This record gives sequence, C-alpha cells and structure tokens, in this order.
Amino acid sequence: MSAIRLSKVLFSRVSQAARFPQQFAAPTIRCYSCETNNFEHIKTETTGEKKNVGLITLNRPKALNALCKGLMDELDHALKHFDANPAIGAIVLTGNEKAFAAGADIKEMMNNTYTINEKNNFLQNWENISKIKKPIIAAVNGYALGGGCELALTCDIIYAGDKARFGQPEIAIGTMPGGGGSQRLPRFIGKSKSMELVLSGNPITAEEAERSGLVSRVFPADKLVAEAVKLGEKISSHSPIIVSLAKKAVNAAYETSLQHGLNYEKQLFYGTFATADQKEGMAAFTEKRPPKFTNE
Ligand code: CAA
Repeated sequence: MSAIRLSKVLFSRVSQAARFPQQFAAPTIRCYSCETNNFEHIKTETTGEKKNVGLITLNRPKALNALCKGLMDELDHALKHFDANPAIGAIVLTGNEKAFAAGADIKEMMNNTYTINEKNNFLQNWENISKIKKPIIAAVNGYALGGGCELALTCDIIYAGDKARFGQPEIAIGTMPGGGGSQRLPRFIGKSKSMELVLSGNPITAEEAERSGLVSRVFPADKLVAEAVKLGEKISSHSPIIVSLAKKAVNAAYETSLQHGLNYEKQLFYGTFATADQKEGMAAFTEKRPPKFTNE
C-alpha cells in the first residue's frame, strides 16, 4: 500500500472512531476489588453491627449516577462479591440524596446503532442483577429515572426517601424502557399506572410510589440508608439458605401461573425440612432460645 493510500485509510478509521467510539472501544481490563475499594463509579463497604450487610453506593454524582457501562460492570462485580461472601446476609444498594440513578448514560449510548446494541448485547448484563441469590434492598433518594427506576425494580425490596422521584422518561428522548421497566412495572403496579408512567414520561413521588406498591416504605431522606441497613441486618439474622429459598419463591410469583407457583412454593417449603437450619429454628422456638443458624 502506498504511503498516501495508507494515510487515507488511517485518517478514515480515526475519523470514524471519533464519530462512533463505541465501535472501536478496546476492551478495558480492570481488576476491581471490594477489599481495596478501587472502583471508579461505586463505593462498597460491609456495615451493620455484625458487619453482615453489604452496602453499595453508586458514586457518579456529576452525572446523577447515570448508569454507564463502567458503572454497571463494577456493580455486577460488587454484587457477585457480596453474594459469594458467607458473612453477608443482605445487600443495600443506594445513590446520593439527589439521585439514585438518572437512567442509562444518554451521552454514552446516543450514537449507538441497532446493530451495535444487538451485537454488544446492550443492557443484557443488567439481568445479571436478578440472578443474585441474596436479597437486595434499593434505598432510593432523589431521582430513580429510566434505567435507574428499572435498577430499583430489579432489586427485591425498595425503600424510598421522602423526596424520591420514580419515572420512565425515555419516551421524551425518543426511546422507551429497555432495562425491564415495561415488563416489571405492570406486574408490580398494574397496567394503567405503568402506561401512564411509560407513555407520559411523568415521574411519581415517593408517596405515590408507596401507595402503588412500588415501594414498601418511605423515610426521611437522611434516615433512609440506616433504615435499609437495619432491614438488611434483620434479614441477615435468619438462615441464609432459607432466605434464598424464600426469595426464589416470591420471585417465581412474577414468572409463573398461580397453580405452578403454589406447587413450587410447596416443594421449596418441603425442602426446608432437609436443612439443619429448619431443625435448629424449630428446636430454638420450643426451647425458648434464639436460634443459631449454620446455613446448613
Ligand atoms: N445520562 C447521562 N448524563 C446524565 C443523565 C443521563 N441519564 N442524567 C443526567 N445527566 C447529567 C447531565 O447531562 C448533567 O451533566 P453536565 O453537567 O455535564 O451537563 C448532569 O448529569 C446534571 O444533570 P442536569 O443538569 O440535567 O440536572 P437537573 O437537576 O437540571 O435535572 C434530571 C435532573 C431531571 C434528572 C435531568 O438530568 C434528566 O432529565 N436526566 C435524564 C433522565 C432520563 O431521560 N433518563 C432515562 C435515560 S434512557 C434509559 O435509562 C434507557 C433504559 O431504559 C435503560
């Protein structure tokens, strides 16, 4: 290839890369560690009196915790880390007072094409969150919009601060929910309210979210995380294996028919009798003492 031809090819590749950086992004290899907390977009700690609650704080305040790929990769890593840690019984996921998360990162995805989304399985890894066995409590202050609302919906329990706002505003930027909102919202709050959220883009308040069943409790903003941790501690005081079976049973209710779900629940219930923790729990009750669960 002549020097002129080579420079033309290079120029065209560089200018294309500048216009569509997501096609050319070299895979980044990063070594995250919850022990060293060397994350860029999140913070992690173990908390609670017995250090049995994993706390993950989304930490991209300048972008209102917009869920860029780097943040979602780190979140995936931290969730798996806490899920595998036998000392942790529950996980709390939070943001800051202004935003839990204002959605997927619009600036990062705005030049995506259909082909890029399809080839890169865009948003597919968001579903990994629903595979975590331990309960995840979302403690939502401020905005939970678009992917931020969907992230909260993927958690098991949502506690909200009194100034929280939940919404699916994607329609206003020429798209629609892609992280589960159009499917989970109707199952949680019914069709009419879901349609209103998704088609108008208007957010709802924490109070309205609680009334709709989207949120289980509302607290003053500054008390929210402590309350979520308290709930995490309570959950962590139970047998982890039984907690994970109970979580599976409730989640099955959203994915199956009533009859199938009832049968599934019964099998899980029978199964608890194969565990040492069921024997211990019931023995402790009859002996009027606190149980000592061993996760066996
Ligand atoms: N992506 C990227 N950046 C975002 C963002 C997002 N989703 N939301 C906010 N930001 C950035 C803003 O661009 C701004 O950055 P600069 O200072 O560099 O300009 C910074 O965060 C602060 O935001 P604002 O200045 O807009 O703050 P505000 O208080 O005036 O408004 C807001 C707050 C109403 C939440 C507004 O930021 C907003 O509407 N954000 C977008 C919400 C949205 O549309 N979310 C859906 C995204 S699409 C999606 O999530 C798809 C899916 O289903 C997965």
